[in-house]
Amino acid sequence: MKSSTSVYDVFTPTTPAKVSFIERDEVNEKLVDALRTPGTQLVVYGYSGSGKSTLLRNKLRQLYEHEVTTRCTSASSFDQLMLSAFDDLDGYYISELQEKNTSSISASAKNTIASIRTELSATASFSSENLAKKTRILPPQLTAQNLAKLMGEANCCWVLEDFHKIEESERTKLSQTMKVFMDMADDYKTVKVIAVGAVDSARQVVQYDPEMRTRIAEIHVPLMEPHELQSIINLGTKILKIAFSPSLTNKISHYANGLPAICHTICLNVCQQNGIYEEVNTLVNLTDAELEPALEKYLSNSSDTLKMAFEASLKQVRKGKYDHPKLIIHALAQLSQDGATKDEILRKINKVEPTYTSRSFSGGIEKLCKAQRTPLIRLDENSGKYSFIDPLYRSFALALNSDEPKTSFDVNIQTLIENVIFKIRELQ
Ligand SMILES: Nc1ncnc2c1ncn2[C@@H]1O[C@H](COP(=O)(O)OP(=O)(O)OP(=O)(O)O)[C@@H](O)[C@H]1O
Ligand SMILES: [Mg+2]
Repeated sequence: MKSSTSVYDVFTPTTPAKVSFIERDEVNEKLVDALRTPGTQLVVYGYSGSGKSTLLRNKLRQLYEHEVTTRCTSASSFDQLMLSAFDDLDGYYISELQEKNTSSISASAKNTIASIRTELSATASFSSENLAKKTRILPPQLTAQNLAKLMGEANCCWVLEDFHKIEESERTKLSQTMKVFMDMADDYKTVKVIAVGAVDSARQVVQYDPEMRTRIAEIHVPLMEPHELQSIINLGTKILKIAFSPSLTNKISHYANGLPAICHTICLNVCQQNGIYEEVNTLVNLTDAELEPALEKYLSNSSDTLKMAFEASLKQVRKGKYDHPKLIIHALAQLSQDGATKDEILRKINKVEPTYTSRSFSGGIEKLCKAQRTPLIRLDENSGKYSFIDPLYRSFALALNSDEPKTSFDVNIQTLIENVIFKIRELQ
């Protein structure tokens, strides 16, 4: 008997969606074409949370038997990434040799693996006296070419997640590696590098030579359209055999503001507050009365992050006449959730600060969009509109401003949450 599907497999705010995965028509064709074309390397970019990893994971599952995924951090060196990819491949080859017929792996690949393995264990024992800080050295045989060969024989590709995080000097090594992978496509059709970055241009992920341009596909994964978010809700609720009223679905998709993770979180909260943990036997109908408690839960779970995001932005050292972050945040909060253009925000600010100029705005907004760890605001290049990254930020900004503007965060978080809920209610 088929076991019933768990709500945690359907609404997945923190892991790539599988059963509730919806196709992204806008990018699908470009991505699949690039994945299928031998030699084409990929740079996948777009806002954090737009769905890059999920899309890639699902498409690769359809097209490849397996892939090697390496996660990057600000401390990663390119050598470490190569080593980590090798470890993955090594594990794959070991299980492949044990489980399947070994004839699919060439003698040359086996030799390469063996010599790299020997070198690695030799340097490991050599440096074992100094284990406090264990850094492995890249064996001379572990070249980009050999890595490509091993990946080629295993029919897989190399995904570098969060590549934008690694230091710029290390990042340049990727473009050389991509070049090697391009040249290897003659022998191995599937071999390619896919660099993924949560940034707003491909060039921020990797700087490559102009002559490589035609063989690199830059794939932008945009934030989701309301109809895409609604598809997630419709698909997820169908699997669980529950029904959200059209108004609840609309409100959730509106509130999620392009971010599928928020959509999943709110849906999960709605299910939890109704005791729905798996596919039900009789249809359950839920209406938009569910929205407020679901948002409240989301809010209390993220209040710390929220507080930190605002603190980081508002606490910027005040230079000169204006408190830019405060002026901009408060003006934007009073405008539409869909965002507002520079002129609209400026007009709003000018109501309180008539001499505030376009130049002051540009300097101020840049910091809010680029704040290293937790940017508050994003710019949509197509519409030219700025908006809060998480709609919760907008409600939070409004709540902050509803009493005497608070410059310190000594405010009781519970009071703040109540204020935010009050604002959300007003906004509906
Ligand atoms: N096509 C999709 N269908 C259903 N849910 C999706 C889809 N794409 C993304 N999601 C959901 O949205 C959330 C964020 O997606 P994902 O982690 O893929 O974004 P990302 O762009 O890789 O973010 P980051 O840059 O921060 O790594 C996940 O919880 C995932 O389940
Ligand atoms: Mg990701």
